[in-house]
Amino acid sequence: MRAVGISRPSATPAVRTAVVWDVLRAVLADRVAATGRDRLDIVDAGGGTGGFAVPLAGLGHAVTVVDPSPDSLAALERRAAEAGVGVRALQGDAADLKEILPTDGADLVLCHSVLEYVEDPAGALGAIAGLLREGGAISVLAANPLAAALHRSIAGRFEEALQVLDDPQGRWGDRDPTPRRFTCETLAVLLSAAGLTPGEVHGVRIFADLVPSRLLDGEPGAARALVALEQAAAAHPVLRDIATQLHVLGRK
Ligand SMILES: C[S@@+](CC[C@H](N)C(=O)[O-])C[C@H]1O[C@@H](n2cnc3c(N)ncnc32)[C@H](O)[C@@H]1O
Repeated sequence: MRAVGISRPSATPAVRTAVVWDVLRAVLADRVAATGRDRLDIVDAGGGTGGFAVPLAGLGHAVTVVDPSPDSLAALERRAAEAGVGVRALQGDAADLKEILPTDGADLVLCHSVLEYVEDPAGALGAIAGLLREGGAISVLAANPLAAALHRSIAGRFEEALQVLDDPQGRWGDRDPTPRRFTCETLAVLLSAAGLTPGEVHGVRIFADLVPSRLLDGEPGAARALVALEQAAAAHPVLRDIATQLHVLGRK
């Protein structure tokens, strides 16, 4: 089947991250208040080039990124240097976190767009749970199969959309670059199995990937309004479930 022409999705960095930052800011404020420490210990598992790690370090927190990719870690170090902040960069796999970092040493662990790629998501979450202090939190961001079905169908790829719904890993076919996707339910089961309490779920990019980019190009007001729309809808009990990504907090 031939895909119909659609404009490229319009997810700017602000649209991609605004909802997650809203949640993280609240989590950090709660934790600072609960511990009396302004400088929290944060681990970004699979933190890549530091899109979250560097700004978190800029807020004054002690941030460690663990990632298997030397190229990403090099880019992270460049980004941190440009921002004038220190971020500890360690090469490693999420499954080996227990050997890389001390147990019970983290207030917050980020696991953003990583569970899709690790060999064993349950094992990775178990290792992450071991890093968290009592009262600490994990921030999980993962691709949502319902959104993948929606996006394939909008592109005219109806058979692939159906395949997403049938496939236990939520993939649209052999050429799908994402090895697996997660629903709210599968994320809650994984967090519980790791001994964590699943908390609030937010939808990230509910609308952004459905909007043709030409509607936003050169329109800063429209981009700002889209961010506000995403923030307002992120916790909506129905809209949340069709977001490109699901964000779930887990607590120890
Ligand atoms: C899509 S990127 C996400 C990067 C970053 N977390 C973010 O949100 O921008 C996926 C990251 O997961 C890392 N990764 C892949 N397999 C991993 C593993 N087994 N353990 C830890 N990180 C892994 C990759 O190197 C890459 O940096």
